[in-house]
Amino acid sequence: MTRITTCIFDAYGTLFDVSAAARALAHEPGRESLAAVWQQVAADWRLKQLEYSWLRAVTGDYCDFWQLTRDGLDWALERAGLQDDAALREGLLGLYWRLAAYPEVPGMLARLKAGGLACAILSNGSPRMLEGAVDSAGIGAHLDAVLSVEAVGNFKPDWRVYDLVGARFGGTPGEVLFVSSNGWDACAGAAYGFRTLWVNRTGLPLDRLPGRPDEIAADLTAVPAMLGV
Ligand code: LAC
Repeated sequence: MTRITTCIFDAYGTLFDVSAAARALAHEPGRESLAAVWQQVAADWRLKQLEYSWLRAVTGDYCDFWQLTRDGLDWALERAGLQDDAALREGLLGLYWRLAAYPEVPGMLARLKAGGLACAILSNGSPRMLEGAVDSAGIGAHLDAVLSVEAVGNFKPDWRVYDLVGARFGGTPGEVLFVSSNGWDACAGAAYGFRTLWVNRTGLPLDRLPGRPDEIAADLTAVPAMLGV
């Protein structure tokens, strides 16, 4: 089997915990209205953000991922009857720039780097959003690149987005391990030709799409083990 030289990570939901923003705010004093519904708000927010990315990819109405993040939140807050709470909206959006990485992320990346692998992010996120999250998680020193769809002007799973990896690192897709917690992204990466790991933290069924992840794991500690580093 071709030797893996490069590890590429999806960002939101894979390295960064996207429900952390709503969870953190819901537990602050005075946030009782959010506390009761934060899980629904977080799930709706994420789903709408992604739905809008897929729909805009089909219709060619690209806008940056920050716009989709705001649009998805507005839908989620209105559904929860919280649309008039401007301070809550600003608080949630602000936290999105300072998301926590999952606890195993820094140690995993350090092991991959020590094992001689190139590591990078490939994300729908805008370069500024990604810079904010990478800085706040303190993982920049472990990353060789942060690749944003902005260079293509369309969202995943447009294959031109996956082409950014070869353009930056050279080599073939088979030399890349692509790691995503989004089932649809892992399937698309596999169909593209990457070796893929689907990080399935919540035990979801496999998506019925072209492409099948090579491996499935519950968290990112599986990555160094998979690569023998
Ligand atoms: C990303 C989204 C899909 O980071 O999680 O690209």
